[in-house]
Amino acid sequence: MANETALITGASSGIGLGLARLFAADDSNLVLVARREDRLKALADELKSEFGVDVFILPKDLSEKNAPREIFEELQKEGMQIDVVVNSAGFGARGKFAALGEQAQIDMLQVNVVALTHLTRLFLPGIIERGRGGILNVGSLAGFQPGPNLAVYYATKAYVLSFTEALSEEVRNPNIKITCLAPGPVRTEFGSKSELDDSLLFKMSLMDVEPVVRAGYEGFRRGDVIVLPGMKQKLIPFLLRFTPRFLVRKIVKSLQS
Ligand SMILES: NC(=O)c1ccc[n+]([C@@H]2O[C@H](COP(=O)([O-])OP(=O)(O)OC[C@H]3O[C@@H](n4cnc5c(N)ncnc54)[C@H](OP(=O)(O)O)[C@@H]3O)[C@@H](O)[C@H]2O)c1
Repeated sequence: MANETALITGASSGIGLGLARLFAADDSNLVLVARREDRLKALADELKSEFGVDVFILPKDLSEKNAPREIFEELQKEGMQIDVVVNSAGFGARGKFAALGEQAQIDMLQVNVVALTHLTRLFLPGIIERGRGGILNVGSLAGFQPGPNLAVYYATKAYVLSFTEALSEEVRNPNIKITCLAPGPVRTEFGSKSELDDSLLFKMSLMDVEPVVRAGYEGFRRGDVIVLPGMKQKLIPFLLRFTPRFLVRKIVKSLQS
C-alpha cells in the first residue's frame, strides 16, 4: 500500500499498536497519536527500521476538546495528507453509572465518541475528494447491546457502530473503505484499566491482539462494513436478534457484576 498515510489513534498500546504494525508492514506511512510520547517514539523507531516507512508522532490527549483540530492543523502545516484514519483510542470504566466519577464518564464520551467523530469529520472530505482511503473505527461487541455496570462505555460503542454503518452507506465508493472493527474481550491494557480482568465476561472469552487486528485489517482492506473477529464473537449479534432485550440486559449485567 505504498503512497498511503494512515493516522492511527491509540497507537501506544493494544489494538491501535497492532494495527499500526500491520499498516507499516504493508508499506503505509504513519501518523501515531496517543498520550504516552515515549511509547509512540519507541514504536516509531521500531517501524521505521523494520519496514522503512515514515512515521510521525503526535502526542495528544483526545479527552481535550481541541485535540482533533490541533492534529488536523499540525498535519496541514507539515503538508501531510491523510488517506486512512484509524480511530482506536478508547477506554471503559466498570461500575454503576451513578457511583462512577463524573469526569471519567465525560472524558469517555469525549475520547470514544466526540474525538472519533471530529477526526472523521476533519479527514473524510479529503478522502472523498481524492477518491481513495478510508476510516477504520474500533467499536466493540459491546455496541450491540446495553451494558449494565459499563453503561456509558457500551453506549459509546453503540454510537461507533451506528455512525460507521451510516457513513459506509453515505460514502458508497468501492475505493473508500468504511469499517467498524467490533471485537469481544481482547488481551490488552484495556481489561486492567477498565477493571474488567476479573469479570466473568473476560474470564470466558479473551482473544489475543494479533488475530483481532489481522481480522480488522483484512476486513478493512476488503471493504467489510462490520468485522467481528472470532467464531463465538460472530454468533453473538446473530443470537441477540432472537433474545428478548430484558433478558439480554440481565445476562450482560451478570457477566460484569
Ligand atoms: N481490549 C478489549 O477487550 C476491547 C474490546 C472491544 C473493543 N475495544 C476497543 O479497542 C480500542 C483500543 O483499546 P485496547 O484494547 O487496545 O486498549 P489499550 O491497550 O488500553 O489501548 C488504548 C489506547 O487508547 C489510547 N487512549 C486512551 N485514552 C486516551 C486519550 N485521552 N487520549 C489519547 N489516547 C488515548 C491509549 O493511549 P495513551 O494511554 O498513551 O494515551 C492507548 O493507546 C478501544 O476503543 C476499546 O474500546 C477493546
